[in-house]
Amino acid sequence: MQVDLRSSWWIRDVEIPTRLVLAPMAGVSVQAFRRQGRRYGAGLVCSEMVSCAGLHHGNEKTLGYLRIASDERPLAVQIFGSEPEVMAEAARMVEDAGADLVDVNFGCPVKKVTKTGAGATLLEDPARACAVVAAVAKAVDVPVTVKMRRGIENGSRSCLELGPRLVEAGAASLTLHPRSARQMYTGEADHALTAELVSLVDVPVIASGDVTSRPRAQAILATTGAAAVMVGRAAQGNPWALREIVDGDSDEPSREEVVAELVLFIRETARELGERRATGFLKKFYGWYLSRGRFPRPFKQELVQLESLDEVEQRLFAAAPGAVEALEHLEAELPSGEDDVILDLPISIYGGG
Ligand SMILES: Cc1cc2nc3c(=O)[nH]c(=O)nc-3n(C[C@H](O)[C@H](O)[C@H](O)COP(=O)(O)O)c2cc1C
Repeated sequence: MQVDLRSSWWIRDVEIPTRLVLAPMAGVSVQAFRRQGRRYGAGLVCSEMVSCAGLHHGNEKTLGYLRIASDERPLAVQIFGSEPEVMAEAARMVEDAGADLVDVNFGCPVKKVTKTGAGATLLEDPARACAVVAAVAKAVDVPVTVKMRRGIENGSRSCLELGPRLVEAGAASLTLHPRSARQMYTGEADHALTAELVSLVDVPVIASGDVTSRPRAQAILATTGAAAVMVGRAAQGNPWALREIVDGDSDEPSREEVVAELVLFIRETARELGERRATGFLKKFYGWYLSRGRFPRPFKQELVQLESLDEVEQRLFAAAPGAVEALEHLEAELPSGEDDVILDLPISIYGGG
């Protein structure tokens, strides 16, 4: 049976207007990315991981502090850590800041995170994983969700044993990225496992991994029974992929549209991270936006070498003058920023899942 991607579904009392969720990605999912995702059809967006370690040590390496606003909602904020009480405290802060969902990361395969007992390590430590979810669920009124991988080792099926226990501990939804932590991003996501998980729990499951097109999204929804698909890498520099998945609109964007979206992204990110930090942060996005045959390859090299974001903008407008007007339209639609809330928890520079 085909699922209508533009139909709403619920995580407890939170209504999510489409079946597409924008993935949390460390070093990518800044506010501009999440807002753009909403505009192009994501029904739910998720922040990067914020670190609970920062609560007690104050020495977490950080990208800055999380800024959230009401136009992003429904919004999930992702936290990670391995101490139930510290996680509960962080969850309360996340709820106070206005998040609709608190998402717990049990998928991060990065050593710096797993060696602290957090992230994917918890997939093999069910007692602690359940204690974390139970403490967080008790601490907040908003639904608590968990994002996990299949297990640590290749071929692991730990997620099937753990998933139902996490639901019993209070998880209101599970996202599965069915790769092992060892695999990182190699091989393929094995959504046969997603189907098994769906059959074992009575909460909505979100399928993450290798969703790159509408036919793929529809096939995964139909064969797994998942409530929604999550899209990560396919949306990097390419919000048009979201539109294609949700609405079947496969028109390629014009150069003017690409430049207008990229310049808006640059401006919003500079506002969020500050000009200096944004300058380095944004470099990977130039390649993502300008590739796919949209602009000749040397153009990206040219942009990466420019010293200021002003110069980058000027060079982009020179390549697509019609983008100035397109950008004005986009900016006119932007919220004022008056209701932005800064969450006093650092964004982790690690992350992954
Ligand atoms: C650069 C990058 C950073 C990521 N950071 C996170 C993270 O902070 N938390 C998380 O749960 N998953 C993280 N992930 C995993 C994604 O959310 C997603 O599950 C994974 O990329 C598979 O989906 P995809 O094939 O659509 O990219 C990250 C993935 C990438 C590529």
